[in-house]
Amino acid sequence: MSYLTEESREAIDDRNLRTMWDVHDQWSSPDTDLEPYLWEWEDIEASLRTIEEEAPLEDLPQGIRRSLALRTPGSDITSSTIAAFYQTVTPGEVAGAHRHNVGAFRFVVEGNDKMYTVVEGEEFPMEPGDLILTPNWTYHDHENQSDETAVWVDVLDWPFIGSALGAPIFDNHKEFEQPVDKEQGYYNSQFGTMRPANDNASRFRDTPPYRFSWEETYDVLTTAADNDQAYDPYNGVNMEYVNPETGQGPVMSTIALRQQMLRDGDSTKTHKHNTSEIYYVVKGAGKTEVGDETLEWSEKDSFVVPPGKWHSHETTADESVLFAMSDRPIFDAFNLYHEERKDE
Ligand SMILES: [Fe+2]
Ligand SMILES: [Fe+2]
Repeated sequence: MSYLTEESREAIDDRNLRTMWDVHDQWSSPDTDLEPYLWEWEDIEASLRTIEEEAPLEDLPQGIRRSLALRTPGSDITSSTIAAFYQTVTPGEVAGAHRHNVGAFRFVVEGNDKMYTVVEGEEFPMEPGDLILTPNWTYHDHENQSDETAVWVDVLDWPFIGSALGAPIFDNHKEFEQPVDKEQGYYNSQFGTMRPANDNASRFRDTPPYRFSWEETYDVLTTAADNDQAYDPYNGVNMEYVNPETGQGPVMSTIALRQQMLRDGDSTKTHKHNTSEIYYVVKGAGKTEVGDETLEWSEKDSFVVPPGKWHSHETTADESVLFAMSDRPIFDAFNLYHEERKDE
């Protein structure tokens, strides 16, 4: 749209100025160029095997992970705020220690108790379904001391910090592997349900290093479901991870994490919001309608629900569990959230 002659418009452009109506569209609705998309585990796994074979970790610089970014059609990355990757570390390999002001966490696809993420001096075992927080500014490296290849989903607020704010800070630890100078369970003893009585002040502004085991997560989820609690018609049984230090959500200052359980025959109502949702399928199978598309999912797949798209979920298995990752904390911090619901 232009109300000006071509000549006038070019003259304004040449002075590095723009008329407001030329930029207004970007301000008035969520980014509709983004398309919903599902990444099947079969395709991800084949690609992981390729990069394991052709790019040994020892050939990569200390700060670079051997991982695959989920790229949403219409974008270079998963969403405008948060990015998801699948990372692989084979037996004996180490992904070197670094830190950044970008916040991150890991959700384990394949792993065991000898696969560790080391965060600020403590080794956190990585078993399937475990959630390991590597908060911003904390040094972290990944060590596979087992004889099985480990795979996990890495999620970072990198597009928000890096692209939107243009403010990423990154540095490698002076040693390739950081020293392990804390017993396993140390951070749980500082920030879990029992803490030092006299001194529990935190040096972590976001959230502390922490491991949420799948065993405990699933136990809590099924107990809530069995007691008919936490049911949300738009999300199913909807349980949120909380910051272990405060006992309140969101678990990280930029990313909210939930587990949504859909029980036999469950289908959710339809809603849309201006936040992005990335899903990893922990258990079961089913389908999600997003806009005009139907995404059929099963275990270890991931899919994205872009902002502004109507969506609903349905399980075709006896029980499905979807791990939901959302940028909603950014929206809540600045009073930006908007949601519409059908059949309320
Ligand atoms: Fe990192
Ligand atoms: Fe949603």
